[in-house]
Amino acid sequence: MTNQYQTEHYRELDALHHLHPFTSHKSLRTGGARVIVRGDGPYIWDSEGNCILDGMAGLWTANLGHSRKELAEAAYKQMLELPFYNTFFRTTHPPVVALSRKLAEIAPDNLNQVFYGSSGSESNDTAIRLIRHYWALKGEPKRRIIISRKNAYHGSTIAAASMSGMAHMHAHSYPLYEGFRHIMDPYWYGEAKSGETREEFGLRAARALEDEILAVGPENVAAFAGEPVQGAGGVKIPPANYWPEIQHIVDKYGMLFLADEVITGFGRLGTWFASEYYGIRPNLITFAKAVTSGYLPLSGVMVDDDIVDMLMDNDEDFNHGYTFSGHPVACAVALKNLEIIERERLVPRVRDFGAPALAKMLAKFKDHPLVGEVRSVGLLGAIELVADKRSRRRFADLGRVGLICRDHFFREGFIMRAVFDTMVMSPPLIWEQKQFDEAEAVIRRALDLTLSDVAGEVAA
Ligand SMILES: Cc1ncc(COP(=O)(O)O)c(C=O)c1O
Repeated sequence: MTNQYQTEHYRELDALHHLHPFTSHKSLRTGGARVIVRGDGPYIWDSEGNCILDGMAGLWTANLGHSRKELAEAAYKQMLELPFYNTFFRTTHPPVVALSRKLAEIAPDNLNQVFYGSSGSESNDTAIRLIRHYWALKGEPKRRIIISRKNAYHGSTIAAASMSGMAHMHAHSYPLYEGFRHIMDPYWYGEAKSGETREEFGLRAARALEDEILAVGPENVAAFAGEPVQGAGGVKIPPANYWPEIQHIVDKYGMLFLADEVITGFGRLGTWFASEYYGIRPNLITFAKAVTSGYLPLSGVMVDDDIVDMLMDNDEDFNHGYTFSGHPVACAVALKNLEIIERERLVPRVRDFGAPALAKMLAKFKDHPLVGEVRSVGLLGAIELVADKRSRRRFADLGRVGLICRDHFFREGFIMRAVFDTMVMSPPLIWEQKQFDEAEAVIRRALDLTLSDVAGEVAA
């Protein structure tokens, strides 16, 4: 284990040479980064020896937990066999073939072909290009607009950030790509009008899609894109009637449907893909993160037969691809990851054990004075922190109290992420009751400590 001196050393060098994602570098330089040195199953350790329960599975990623030997062995074996070869110029290799076959088997029936990348952002860039290319090949090149939602997160490349609905990211895009529109997100707790039921709100949020289609002209609309559950936007779980209504509208206007399953894929909701959970029929599914449980970077787009047929009927190249599309070692690790998830029956286990255990644990905080709402689906959960439970009034300076709470979690040895004042979690699929019990104890302590920090601001 590294000692205190080394922690300071790492912090200093980190501040001097490492620009972190989505970070205020000024405040990082003052506070210093936490140095994480080891992971094992549901836990990680920092350089000062603190053991931390990882309630975020890395970053919605480590579905199998940390440091599985079998995944390391799969990588080692493949590295000795064929560490890298590209998939351009009519070449392929056994791991990419086997993984593509496996993904076709577990994805919805109409999705049988995969285009690979290394990150969720890349997979969404690929999807955007494929969608527009499809319509051009079909003789409808005007169909370019992709409608997504406010607060959606589809990635950080300029195209994926343009499709995302995050105003603070749009502000840093200089400028955005054209051809994206953003409708309201299905966030009942935050957006419902006074007295509006979940069902009424669900229909209103879904029908915003039809309003937007009519506003821009159906002949210009290429696709609708959405995360089945908005993750980075705050684990926003749509009302039950939302997705059926969206699917109905998508069908009515004959547009494509892209489901971004970068967070929800590979068992998180107790089904291989959330599309199955919600009964939606996307033409494209983007995935990343948990396909390898994060042990190596790999992503992709699953594409439906109709889009593939259109590509097949065309003699020209599809001018798109990445050096690491279908990286052999990443594919070998993904195959082993999926094999273990299957062998340990982790997908039905989420449905039968993990999801109810998380819901039960979160429900214990409903009555806490700081908590406006708790919600979960599968192994995605959220706790809304509010100044007034009854009126749902937020704290002044949105995000401030979320950070206070997140820091208490950290100090207590637990990772939960703050999305403004919404605390979100996404534990590995392997959590036992022991981890849910540990999380419950830490959440209680951290909420109480946060309450004492902001007591004067909380409605009696
Ligand atoms: C739904 C969704 N799509 C895309 C991305 C982008 O993935 P990456 O960070 O691998 O580019 C993320 C990242 O969290 C995500 O949550």
